Amino acid sequence: MVYQATASAPVNIACIKYWGKRDTKLILPTNSSLSVTLSQDHLRSTTTSRADPSFAKDRLWLNGKEEEIVAPGRLATCIAELKKLRKELVEDKDSSAPKLSTFPVHIASFNNFPTAAGLASSASGFAALVSSLAALYALPCSPSTLSLIARQGSGSACRSLFGGYVAWEQGVLDDGSDSLAVEVAPRSHWPEMHALICVVSDDKKGTSSTSGMQRTVQTSELLQHRIKHVVPKRMKEIEAAIKAKDFDAFAKVTMADSNQFHAVALDTEPPIFYMNDVSRSIIALIVEYNRVAIEKTGKRKAAYTYDAGPNAVIYTLQENVKEIVELIVKYFPQKDGFKDPFQLFAGGSVGEGRVV
Ligand code: ADP
Ligand code: DP6
Ligand code: CO
Repeated sequence: MVYQATASAPVNIACIKYWGKRDTKLILPTNSSLSVTLSQDHLRSTTTSRADPSFAKDRLWLNGKEEEIVAPGRLATCIAELKKLRKELVEDKDSSAPKLSTFPVHIASFNNFPTAAGLASSASGFAALVSSLAALYALPCSPSTLSLIARQGSGSACRSLFGGYVAWEQGVLDDGSDSLAVEVAPRSHWPEMHALICVVSDDKKGTSSTSGMQRTVQTSELLQHRIKHVVPKRMKEIEAAIKAKDFDAFAKVTMADSNQFHAVALDTEPPIFYMNDVSRSIIALIVEYNRVAIEKTGKRKAAYTYDAGPNAVIYTLQENVKEIVELIVKYFPQKDGFKDPFQLFAGGSVGEGRVV
């Protein structure tokens, strides 16, 4: 008998950014966040898990290279939590169910886009890992319950369990049981929304999200202002904008929050720079594009946002995709090949969450 399951998960790109932990072990954030899950056509992680009593220990290969699983690290925590659920929810209830919770697992995962380059590989990666083990173990769990486990792999991963528009509610409890992802709206609510991903650099970032945000928590006064006085208001604004399908309001708050996230990175000691000159030129281009649009119609037509890396994500509505792609290609000519300094994955629509 072969016990094996494969699952894929897409990346999500935050409009209101998560940056800071109040509990580094459980991965509990200092503020709530909200993201859009992209379609799996472009950026996804695909993970296969196999349980076998003949395996000596749990092992994981990422893009063909083995990663150490060391307790109490993130991989070990996620695997242990899922084995525990397998025992409690399946094996203890049905004595004929195979005791998969006692078998070591081998896990192989592939990202079809740059890993650790600020394109949210930790989000799709841990969402796919949790989804493949949940499928292997036939866990009767909701996406929100699985998001509690994915969160302990990488905070942003909890949001990739859902498609469409997703909030990660920071929660108030010390055990983290209320710090989970919830769907704000399904993708079908606003299917015209598109994300253009502009790969400025596929290099591994100099400062990982984990260590960068920890340094920000320790040293930035601006972060304290952001947590208390800015994010709560913005969460309400963006949820209202999504519900009303008000792109202008969505764009305004998304760009403001990207700017403030990079400002708190700069306010960190020593400062962290995730954007580069190309990133800033793309901002200038979108600002100018919106200036013309506002002059004509009073409304913005595009929103840039940058995670912890130089790569731009531009949110816009379907009707503007062609125009924006042409504009970007005009100012940033494309060359062939993946290693080129600038590669555009155009036209990624909003997608579903994990696919088992
Ligand atoms: P990113 O901006 O790509 O999310 P992070 O610094 O947040 O970068 O996280 C990158 C790390 O996430 C990787 O070094 C690896 O440990 C983990 N990761 C990425 N992809 C996967 C995957 N498919 N499966 C498991 N872990 C992954
Ligand atoms: C800028 O989720 O990668 O992309 O929880 O330490 O794994 P860890 O960090 P991670 O941080 C993501 C930061 C961000 C903003 C966001 O996705 O909300
Ligand atoms: Co990440």
